[in-house]
Amino acid sequence: MIKEKIIIFDTTLRDGEQSPGASLSITEKLEIAQHLAVLGVDVIEAGFPVSSPAQFEATHLVAQEVTGPSIAALARANDKDIEAAGKAVVPAKKKRIHTFIATSPIHMEYKLKKTSDEVLKMAVEAVKYAKTFTDDVEFSPEDACRSDMSFLLEILTACIEAGATTLNIPDTVGYILPYEYGRIIAQLKAEVPGIDKCIISTHCHNDLGMAVANSLAGVRNGARQVECTVNGLGERAGNAALEEIVMSIHTRSDFFGKTAENPLTTNINKKEIYRTSQLVSRLTGFVIQPNKAIVGANAFAHEAGVHVDGMLKERLTYEIMTPESIGLGGSRMVLGRHTGRHGFVDRCKQLGFKLTETEIEHAYNRFLEIADKKKEVFDEDIAAIINDEIRVVVEKIYGLEYLHVVSGTGTLPTASVKIKTKDEIKQAAACGDGPVDAAYQAIREATGRSPELESYSIKAVTGGKEALGEATVKITEKGKAYIGRGISTDIIEASAKAYIDAINRMVSTKEAGREPEVKAEL
Ligand code: KIV
Ligand code: ZN
Repeated sequence: MIKEKIIIFDTTLRDGEQSPGASLSITEKLEIAQHLAVLGVDVIEAGFPVSSPAQFEATHLVAQEVTGPSIAALARANDKDIEAAGKAVVPAKKKRIHTFIATSPIHMEYKLKKTSDEVLKMAVEAVKYAKTFTDDVEFSPEDACRSDMSFLLEILTACIEAGATTLNIPDTVGYILPYEYGRIIAQLKAEVPGIDKCIISTHCHNDLGMAVANSLAGVRNGARQVECTVNGLGERAGNAALEEIVMSIHTRSDFFGKTAENPLTTNINKKEIYRTSQLVSRLTGFVIQPNKAIVGANAFAHEAGVHVDGMLKERLTYEIMTPESIGLGGSRMVLGRHTGRHGFVDRCKQLGFKLTETEIEHAYNRFLEIADKKKEVFDEDIAAIINDEIRVVVEKIYGLEYLHVVSGTGTLPTASVKIKTKDEIKQAAACGDGPVDAAYQAIREATGRSPELESYSIKAVTGGKEALGEATVKITEKGKAYIGRGISTDIIEASAKAYIDAINRMVSTKEAGREPEVKAEL
């Protein structure tokens, strides 16, 4: 059986990171990129190097450290962008420059203020210049789906002659419908001279909720690369979700491919899907909706009696794919306070974490603390503990030593805290609109730092009344943003820890004279 491959081009770190409110530090980007390599994506679009020194640095670091996938960098169709992209991907074994220019009348007239002849010339020059850095050059006519078809045919033909090897067809504004998108791809495949030697790629946004459907319509009509993001992150309503694309191609292999004997496939290690999704959610602070396809908490949950009955008789009655296939559940093992260090380390290894001795020490102590309060510690708890313990080590300028909160109906919420610094313990008490607000006021007093609290969210890591709570906060000061996280079985404590974590990140960034790794807003 010949299996034709679909190239999975992941743009979580570039288009995904453009999501309003999604902010990743350079080290977090590297961590995600390393997971994407384990997941088996073929191309990682690591950033838009010209846009800021931090973007350049992150792309360069990913190119240097991550092996396996090709590392791509985005560039507009001008020399400065292309040079930055070319330099950023130098260390990568396999490198790609992805250059783009808008081709729709509306973008050319209002945004670029250029004629189509000028745009065509810029595109060709950009591809030629990108070729001086790498053979692997991708060209995107931005807003392709609202572009004039004859101009699209002309510019793609010219870009192929200039050396483009991948032609990406973005639905930049999420306007197109699946039938139309499929038709565009089919027409380009049939009419652009030389396109048979190139890869046709999809890049669909989700403004009308069609990103995945459009991408799959593209695949069905000849596209062999799909650009997507983990959890569907991305500008506005996001991009096509990687996990949905991969599981659709896999689950409906009878539909994709020329014949049932010649199905399409991907290089994705599907069992890594759930873990990667959780990591991206945790690091970006974007909570996954429970009913999200494939990776939502309810995606494999069966509640209605008739469904449960059917499932017990035969899983296939209500399950078109198994939770195990995406790395969920299966041999779920529960740990508790009697679990020894060896058992804990073993479980961490099975969950795919590679820890140093010091990290194990910290994580195990933290596990014991939590196991004391919570009878059963699940895999999700362990992942949260490890991510909390070992994610980007920030200097603990402030540590939470003591927290006492009083709140209730008819009571003014008050909090008192003791905050440990290098040389002393600072104490403060404050009232607030609620227990979290009171704790935050007290922390502000004790630390003498008063950043704006821009967003706050709390979620249960697992179900049950003893669930571990994970709080994520985003604070800003002078237009710069910092994200902090905290976990605890007590949600007020988790919230306080998250706030202190964010303040630590803010202070250590400032003291080191660094630019914050996190942007305030795109
Ligand atoms: O949506 C879009 O058009 C893009 C391009 C840069 C490919 O992200
Ligand atoms: Zn996009």
